[in-house]
Amino acid sequence: MSTTEPARELSPLEVARATFQRVFERRPELLSRAPGRVNLIGGHVDYNDGLVLPLAVDLEIAVAFTPREDRHVRIHSEQFNETAEFDIADLSPGSVSGWVAYPAGVAWAIAQAGLPVCGLDAAVAGNIPIGGGLSSSAAIEVAFAAAFREVSGLELPELKLAQLSQSAENHFVGVQCGIMDQATAACAQPGKALLLDCETLGIRHVPLPSAMRIVVLCSGVERELRDSEFNKRRRECEEAVSRLNAVDDDIRSLRTVRPEQLQSLLRHLPPPLDRRTRHVVGEIERVQLAAAALESNETERFGELMFASHRSLRDDYEVSSEELDGLVELARQAPGIIGARLTGAGFGGCTVNLVTAALIEDFLGYVTEAYHKLYGREADEFVTDAARGVTVEKVGW
Ligand code: GLA
Repeated sequence: MSTTEPARELSPLEVARATFQRVFERRPELLSRAPGRVNLIGGHVDYNDGLVLPLAVDLEIAVAFTPREDRHVRIHSEQFNETAEFDIADLSPGSVSGWVAYPAGVAWAIAQAGLPVCGLDAAVAGNIPIGGGLSSSAAIEVAFAAAFREVSGLELPELKLAQLSQSAENHFVGVQCGIMDQATAACAQPGKALLLDCETLGIRHVPLPSAMRIVVLCSGVERELRDSEFNKRRRECEEAVSRLNAVDDDIRSLRTVRPEQLQSLLRHLPPPLDRRTRHVVGEIERVQLAAAALESNETERFGELMFASHRSLRDDYEVSSEELDGLVELARQAPGIIGARLTGAGFGGCTVNLVTAALIEDFLGYVTEAYHKLYGREADEFVTDAARGVTVEKVGW
């Protein structure tokens, strides 16, 4: 037996710190980090003022940084092995693209809000798969929002960081996402899911039973049109609201449609708006039921609601894929499963699975082998605990 320990993988914080030192030839003063997320239930309802139940995963983006005297920003990305620079005063939507649009968008959004923003030198590293449906984009936005808050001496609560990050993504990057990903990256608490009301921005932290684990399975397939399809769904929802508002002026968002009104209202909507609406209204109700089930320890009920959510996203919202459907079906047959559904925007990406802790190995063995047999590709898997939202610390050497 060998006595040499296998080399421990460095954490994103360690990588960001070492990268900063290598690129800028001095030590960074500060570190920030923000996690990726999975959403247990509440798919595509955040931008409809609905309720969602996400949690932060223990994968993250880390930023090592030092304030500058001017309003210039230099950022080195360890993942892209590239340094980008910009002046905060020169930023406007479309002026930068690629990975740097996220940090630049955040600096721009803070300035747009009328707040002073100072420059910084930074190195960024991370272990959230890019484009994998775990919201690496919200994590990089929130980690940089916290960094700019720090160097600019701003007093902004975490939720405000989330809102500024969302504004960066909507108006600077050009993706019409809701607030869920950024709010999770900013506000999540360890061991808990976050019941977020996207209308009021009220948050309730719901403890997750320790007897179950969260498993993320990535299909390994991304659809190119994800962002444009996402924006299209959002427009369809807006169109449904404006048609329903013409029938009943109390309807100002799909959140304001009561489940008992749904059937009679659907005849005012042409396809696919009727299906989109049925998904959103049903999904918001499922989140309420699921949060109650979690709080009263009715795990099986919670799992059923997750499967129902997946069916609705597949059939009515049409954001699933063959591989995601396959992963959910295989999970349903696997030992230890409680519930599974696609998570994130869909169109490829990942599923989230709730699994009895004691059966985790059996579960993983069954699903990954069967997936490989059926689709000839590997499902990337990871088991996560519910992690903490954004943090900032001074570097101690
Ligand atoms: C993406 C968006 C979120 C949310 C989900 C779907 O992750 O960024 O705001 O709309 O899709 O639930």
